Amino acid sequence: MGTAAPPLLLAGLALAVLAAAGWPSVATAALEDPAGLLRRAKEPDFAGWMVGVRRRIHENPELGYEEFETSALVRRELDAMGIPYKHPFAVTGVVATVGTGGPPFVALRADMDALPMQESVEWEHRSKVPGKMHGCGHDAHVAMLLGSAKILQEHRDELKGTVVLVFQPAEEGGGGAQKMIEAGAVENIDAIFGIHIADSIPIGVLASRPGPIMAGSGFFEAVISGKGGHAALPHHTIDPILAASNVIVSLQQLVSREADPLDSQVVTIGKFQGGGAFNVIPDSVTIGGTFRAFLKESFNQLKQRIEEVIVSQASVQRCTATVDFLTKDRPFFPPTINSPELHDFFVNVASEMVGSKNVRDRQPLMGAEDFAFYAEAIPSTYYYFVGMYNETRGPQAPHHSPYFTINEDALPYGAAAQAAMAARYLHEHQQPASTLDKAKTHDEL
Ligand SMILES: *[C@@H]1O[C@H](CO)[C@@H](O)[C@H](O)[C@H]1NC(C)=O
Ligand SMILES: [Zn+2]
Ligand SMILES: [Zn+2]
Repeated sequence: MGTAAPPLLLAGLALAVLAAAGWPSVATAALEDPAGLLRRAKEPDFAGWMVGVRRRIHENPELGYEEFETSALVRRELDAMGIPYKHPFAVTGVVATVGTGGPPFVALRADMDALPMQESVEWEHRSKVPGKMHGCGHDAHVAMLLGSAKILQEHRDELKGTVVLVFQPAEEGGGGAQKMIEAGAVENIDAIFGIHIADSIPIGVLASRPGPIMAGSGFFEAVISGKGGHAALPHHTIDPILAASNVIVSLQQLVSREADPLDSQVVTIGKFQGGGAFNVIPDSVTIGGTFRAFLKESFNQLKQRIEEVIVSQASVQRCTATVDFLTKDRPFFPPTINSPELHDFFVNVASEMVGSKNVRDRQPLMGAEDFAFYAEAIPSTYYYFVGMYNETRGPQAPHHSPYFTINEDALPYGAAAQAAMAARYLHEHQQPASTLDKAKTHDEL
């Protein structure tokens, strides 16, 4: 026993020196074993590192196109792993590459932005920025994609192509994905996988569906103008509050009376502002809201009818109205549609990782995702959910709630799942050696 210790100790030291010198650490799992990759990501050092990254980002939430510290943190972690990247794309975006540098190219995406809301959870790593919070879980997404990067880097010599890691700004309404595409961040990519951590899905479960998964979405704001005056003399005024009230009631009939009941759509008024005194009729009222649909025709029909109904219904009460769809600041999001051929692929890889009983179908959601934009630039796109609900830990507040929390036990699942998807995709789409020789490296990245 005494004689066995020194060689082991030396071997351990040698590994530590190699690791410190930037050599790959010894990968304990085969790249083609998704369950092994999950075990790797669950190792205490690995998972603890992701938790640390996530908490640092959580403490310093940054809104869309302002993710400067988050972006710097991503680049520091990539530097530490020896992974090359380019930046900035779309102000704060980072695009890193792992693998051969040649085709095929598969991308993994994380969004980095926080929300303009106040965190109500009291805990050690709560948001240190008043009025800003990672209330959707994008802090976890960044940590998970860095986890995927680490797994892939440990296996970089086994990759049959290139994995492109896309850290994008401004998912929450800002259309960061669109700006990333315009900046050339995803040229020549064959397929992209996106994930969202999900409060309502059990931990250990991965869920999605073929076809539509998230709705297309748009916003609108309308100013309805009348003539203000004394509340006791309504006949000397043109009351925009009454007009706006009728407008809102009429807007509710677009979905209930004009839309196909089997074609899911939503119109919601979330903003109603006007007046300030009990005895004054104001000059104007501002209303605003969002509309959602899965089909392009339904979306365009809603848009047209929202404008018509607001203007026409306002005129019934002698008011005028202007409608603004706000697309400068909030581009219309197309629906997120999963490529059918990638669904079987997802089910296979995910089943190997978590077992087929933990791979579930997900109903489409009326929420929107700017991941949808990637379909305009990339032939195959796939979006899925990583569960984090653990009933033994008690109730889980929903996304965008001031009480939202992340179950950090879910981080290894997202990290390993995305790494496994990318590795398997390259394996299945690898190019014959002859074409690889001729293939150009991914210069534009
Ligand atoms: C759920 O939470 C319990 C208590 O914290 C923990 O022991 C268990 O491992 C968790 N399950 C998963 C799958 O993380
Ligand atoms: Zn969100
Ligand atoms: Zn989100």
